[in-house]
Amino acid sequence: MKKILKKIAYTIAITILKKLHKVITYDRFIIIAKNQGYFEKELIKNTLYDISNYLEFSSNNDSEIEDSENLIHRIIAHYHIIEKGLSFPDTKSGFGKEVMISLINLIKRYISLKHDTNNNQIQAALNAIFEYINYHKKIKYQIEEIEFHFASLKKYLDKESIHSTIELKKEDILRSCQINFRGFVNSRYSIRDFSSVPVLVETVIDAIDISRKTPSACNRQAWKTSLISNHKIIADVLKLQNGNRGFGHTINKLAIISSNLKAFSSFEERNQAYIDGGMFAMSLTYALHSKGIGSIILNWATDSIKDIKLKELLKIPNSEVIVCLIGIGNYQASFSVPKSNRKDLSEIIRMI
Ligand SMILES: Cc1cc2nc3c(=O)[nH]c(=O)nc-3n(C[C@H](O)[C@H](O)[C@H](O)COP(=O)(O)O)c2cc1C
Repeated sequence: MKKILKKIAYTIAITILKKLHKVITYDRFIIIAKNQGYFEKELIKNTLYDISNYLEFSSNNDSEIEDSENLIHRIIAHYHIIEKGLSFPDTKSGFGKEVMISLINLIKRYISLKHDTNNNQIQAALNAIFEYINYHKKIKYQIEEIEFHFASLKKYLDKESIHSTIELKKEDILRSCQINFRGFVNSRYSIRDFSSVPVLVETVIDAIDISRKTPSACNRQAWKTSLISNHKIIADVLKLQNGNRGFGHTINKLAIISSNLKAFSSFEERNQAYIDGGMFAMSLTYALHSKGIGSIILNWATDSIKDIKLKELLKIPNSEVIVCLIGIGNYQASFSVPKSNRKDLSEIIRMI
């Protein structure tokens, strides 16, 4: 009874405070606004929106994860440690035992929840364990506990041929580096005046394919690209974006780069989605450039209201954060661009 009365009193108090604009609420968060101004209130409100999404979709406790995407990304992060260890110059016998046990437990959990074991990341994880065991057999180092735990999983391993490590030759790498990268980089500009000649969807898809090679934290590849060709939808999206006035109407295709929060775990990784997604966006920009297609990265520096609107419009799940937009189009025969002067080298290097 006491508890119920307390709850009623609390709800009434919050409702009154809300009416007086003295609280900022966001789902499970309530902050009493003292003397904050517009900037502070919006900053708190929008940060709480980010926190709320991160809390809802990232993973925290491995033994409680149920969602297949959360599990897969935890599994990738774990097996990546194993494949890394196998590639080191002096692979330590019995390395990563704890990671290995956690990995096996995560896969067992994934299987017990009846998720798809044909998923190529699950297969790669099983292969990494298999290779780890083989490596230790070869060097005659006992890892009975791991072998014991893996025994019940082995039947899920489809092929034993996906290698966790590959052998490279310096001369092959150096041969593929013989390109004028400085020239390539310096000839890319943000384009704000595209021609009316449409860009083939296949060309953009091929550029996305190239961008899959972008590095990411523990190789989790959280990025997604929503590619829009429909001009009405492009226009509707650009209405929500604050940096395309004067040229947005010339954009032929629009890519929305997002990042899946389900790929990340723990508070330390709270910004990782933006870093990995941003790197992917850069790769895509260069990949488009390599195909003779112009592009412009457009910020998604926005508030929670517009963010929710865009996700609703494009059916992007709430579990993803939008990193940026990329306007795409063909080049005019000649056109002008801002010079966008770069800082001096000395300004951006700190020699330590
Ligand atoms: C994350 C990000 C957001 C950007 N947002 C916009 C934008 O909203 N509108 C715009 O016209 N340019 C935008 N740009 C393009 C920058 O203005 C441009 O990259 C910068 O001036 C350097 O010029 P350059 O790309 O031609 O080398 C953005 C670039 C980045 C990386």
